Amino acid sequence: MKTVLIVDDEKNYPRILAEVIGEEGFSALTASSGLDAVETLKAKSVDLVLTDVMMPGMDGIELLEQIKKESPDMPVIVMTAHGSVEKAVEAMQKGAYTYILKPFDNDTLIAHIGKAISIHNIVKENSILREAITSRYTFGNIVGKSPSMHDLYSVIKKAAPTNATILIEGESGTGKELVAKSIHYNSLRKNAPLISVNCTAFAETLLESELFGHEKGAFTGATSLKKGRFELAHHGTLFLDEIGEIPMNIQVKLLRVLQEKSIERVGGTTSVNVDFRLIAATNRNLEQEVKKGKFREDLYYRLNVLKAVMPPLRDRQEDIPVLINHFIEKFAEERHGNEKLQGVAPEAARLLFDYPWPGNVRELENVIERSVILSSGPRIMPSDLPPKIRDGIGSQLDLNGIPENAGLYETLAAIEKRMIQRAMAMSDNVQTKAAELLGIGKSGLNQKLKKYGIP
Ligand SMILES: Nc1ncnc2c1ncn2[C@@H]1O[C@H](COP(=O)(O)OP(=O)(O)OP(=O)(O)O)[C@@H](O)[C@H]1O
Ligand SMILES: [Mg+2]
Repeated sequence: MKTVLIVDDEKNYPRILAEVIGEEGFSALTASSGLDAVETLKAKSVDLVLTDVMMPGMDGIELLEQIKKESPDMPVIVMTAHGSVEKAVEAMQKGAYTYILKPFDNDTLIAHIGKAISIHNIVKENSILREAITSRYTFGNIVGKSPSMHDLYSVIKKAAPTNATILIEGESGTGKELVAKSIHYNSLRKNAPLISVNCTAFAETLLESELFGHEKGAFTGATSLKKGRFELAHHGTLFLDEIGEIPMNIQVKLLRVLQEKSIERVGGTTSVNVDFRLIAATNRNLEQEVKKGKFREDLYYRLNVLKAVMPPLRDRQEDIPVLINHFIEKFAEERHGNEKLQGVAPEAARLLFDYPWPGNVRELENVIERSVILSSGPRIMPSDLPPKIRDGIGSQLDLNGIPENAGLYETLAAIEKRMIQRAMAMSDNVQTKAAELLGIGKSGLNQKLKKYGIP
């Protein structure tokens, strides 16, 4: 059970808070002063500190400083009264996880505590796992410990030794190609080649001769016989990437190859037997493409013998820390200087955790590579992260410039405008994406864009 230390000099308030927190499955300790808190922290294992600012003797800010000296990773939430916004700002600058304005409702407090603790776990795991990413978290080179990744590992394990065709669906950057490789190298075909074709890389006629090859003289420019990728994949695995983009007439030919296990080269008359295992990947939902009439139903059924669906990274946040570790290891050598990178600072971990990762694991990999190179200290700091993550939708909004005496509606409107601007920037001005980030509908977003004159 996670333990929250409540620090407040008032008599009854801490006790009430402790009850509320206790009901949510945390255990709560109380301290009546900063010094008392310091003693408790020495004696007990605490996962989060919730402290008042105004206290006689050591105040909340001093306590915060003290805690950050002793255990920099400890999440601290600071409670401040309305009218002491400077204190809140100071607390944030000194490394508080967040501040909460009194009076607050209990749900808000519990949500903050829950989130802070899970981020703290990331940071802890980060250091615990640094030495060895155990096999529980990996399958070959695939890293991830979420239930959905475990499901994926069992599909791969079952599928690999068979000859069954596999369809891998998933957003860009989720690891489709990595899975294809993993299946091939865990199969009986692992000593034969794995041949990849990106179906979008060729114009229609070229794609045909890439896949099936051509005879000498089949068309102008065909000066010699060329084996197609199916033939090259003989005894091995053929990986057809972006299969959703294949034009209809090639879909027909593909279907025939899958049924007959033989190909005819372009311009040829005889058929050549080929022994291949097909893995296909797409970032489209092929079933929907079939419904729209853009993908042949019969081919879809041929491909979809086994299906692996790659979950987007935003749906499996628990994989973020293990992936970060994996990529830190991977890029460690690119780092200048000799100081070993020890991990990610809590503030940076929080930003990485909150970011929606539209580019999935590939984007995370790029971000970590960049940060490993840019960071100069022992840990990756927020300043080492790209601006779009540093100023993430989930990070603290910059409230500067909102007049102190602004009323509720004016303040809320200013915050709303900033969140919308930020979401638009983060989604490259794609409204559907921005609406998704904000958790509102597209028409709602549209109205607000007009209201605030955001282009
Ligand atoms: N679970 C994972 N563990 C470790 N590395 C991963 C994982 N998923 C993806 N990667 C890495 O992220 C990058 C992108 O993965 P990959 O190329 O397999 O994605 P993809 O789904 O094929 O993307 P696209 O649709 O854009 O082609 C690669 O460098 C890959 O090694
Ligand atoms: Mg790919």
